[in-house]
Amino acid sequence: MSTNRSKEKYDSLARYYDQRWERYLEVTHKVAIDLLEPKGNDIILDASGGTGLLIERIISTIGDEGKFYLCDISKEMLDIAENRLIKFRNVYLSQQDVHHLDFDDSYFSKVLSASSFHYYTEPYEVLCNFHRILKHEGALIIVDWCSNSLHFKLFNILLRLLSKYHVNIYSSNELKSLIEKANFVVEKIINFKHGLWNLVGIRAIKQR
Ligand SMILES: C[S@@+](CC[C@H](N)C(=O)[O-])C[C@H]1O[C@@H](n2cnc3c(N)ncnc32)[C@H](O)[C@@H]1O
Repeated sequence: MSTNRSKEKYDSLARYYDQRWERYLEVTHKVAIDLLEPKGNDIILDASGGTGLLIERIISTIGDEGKFYLCDISKEMLDIAENRLIKFRNVYLSQQDVHHLDFDDSYFSKVLSASSFHYYTEPYEVLCNFHRILKHEGALIIVDWCSNSLHFKLFNILLRLLSKYHVNIYSSNELKSLIEKANFVVEKIINFKHGLWNLVGIRAIKQR
């Protein structure tokens, strides 16, 4: 299953991840934080939060007054996150698959997923899980690769043929429709680039 494969992939990449993708992570995390609009009393889940760099950046933006949860399927990524975030209070890490999240209903004020949505084998189920654990009027932020352009459509096809880890890259419209189908109201969509990389950032609100 692709989910287990992405665990395998990130278990082996973990030690090099932050250095290899340094500039890409700066760019995508900045968009994620802008869309997140974090506040001191937020309870935030970084679903597929990897090495914890984004949570560290959020805490350095707003301080550690809120509560910060990070889950990821890869134990090796989580080990790095643990070393990075151990100095902060109110940070909770767990190894979880976003397809089966073990959190209470209506608990989080914000849920985010950065550069991970294209790995989810059942994206609609994952969005329904995010909906379940968000409070009324909570915000969902997704930043991911985007297949709006022809070269990224081709890249998507190539990855599907050649990479055992790859699942699917969505266009902004496909992602928006999926998010709306899961009962969110899409508030903002940003298309942006990093080198050849085509990306999208979406902020959606749970309204019922
Ligand atoms: C490209 S990394 C992004 C990490 C982090 N969000 C960031 O911006 O640096 C993708 C992450 O998604 C995680 N992942 C993939 N599938 C997952 C799943 N089904 N449940 C939880 N995490 C998953 C991987 O283990 C990896 O840490």
